[in-house]
Amino acid sequence: MPRGYCVSTTESGSYDLAELTRAECSVISLSHVSRQYTGRGETVRALDDASFSIVAGEWVAITGPSGSGKSTLVNMIGCLDRPTSGELKIDGHNVAQMTPTELDRFRADKIGFIFQQFHLIPYLSALENVMLAQYFHSMTDETEARASLERVGLGHRASHLPSELSGGEQQRVCIARALINNPPILLADEPTGNLDAANQQIVANLLRDLHAQGHTIVMVTHDPEMASLAQRRIALSHGKVFCHPMGAPVVMLRRSTDRS
Ligand SMILES: Nc1ncnc2c1ncn2[C@@H]1O[C@H](COP(=O)(O)OP(=O)(O)OP(=O)(O)O)[C@@H](O)[C@H]1O
Ligand SMILES: [Mg+2]
Repeated sequence: MPRGYCVSTTESGSYDLAELTRAECSVISLSHVSRQYTGRGETVRALDDASFSIVAGEWVAITGPSGSGKSTLVNMIGCLDRPTSGELKIDGHNVAQMTPTELDRFRADKIGFIFQQFHLIPYLSALENVMLAQYFHSMTDETEARASLERVGLGHRASHLPSELSGGEQQRVCIARALINNPPILLADEPTGNLDAANQQIVANLLRDLHAQGHTIVMVTHDPEMASLAQRRIALSHGKVFCHPMGAPVVMLRRSTDRS
């Protein structure tokens, strides 16, 4: 099993080095996870016996041809769908054991989702779409919602409906909505799929900043340039997962009191 390294501070302020397994550091962990769709007289194995883990603060790119199971995988990590079999743990919690209400709360606290198909509410403005995510999390704050739109270069389009925005602008509203509650885990399904080069650069820089701030990022992409920004690649083919080795050891800071 690959191992990571954990730099711990001691009470006296000095540092020691502990070696941890990836499973011990993992914030997302799949064990023999499958997702089948049954209908029209056939069964599609969209995800087939996937086992891997992603550690806190890691940036992972999910790649693979169309139909290979990428969206199926991120939808399950995002707790929008459940495995047909196998165990999925997010932040140490087995999502299968949560009630729908617990799952909604958990998702609102932990996960920001940038969807492949945007999923913006058509009769709400860009600003209101962002504020709706605040509402489901805790309280709305218009100033913060405006700042989130400005961060993705859309301050001047805050009052526009999705139908009055270009595909790239809708994608950026989706990003502002995903970031508004500062979730520790960010899931992005083709975050630059609809963007021109300039806007792709804006999103790439945003993701770089978020990664530097310690967010865990799982990003589906067809774009080799975007994939190269991630620390690790997980490739899918016909629902099967192929994990590429880590480019660098996992180094995390933690307090010695966290160690039991
Ligand atoms: N609700 C569903 N019912 C039946 N089959 C489905 C359903 N959703 C997805 N599939 C099938 O599962 C497989 C994986 O789909 P998925 O959307 O995960 O692919 P993807 O890798 O995200 O593709 P793309 O790059 O085109 O977005 C495909 O063969 C798809 O047709
Ligand atoms: Mg997809």
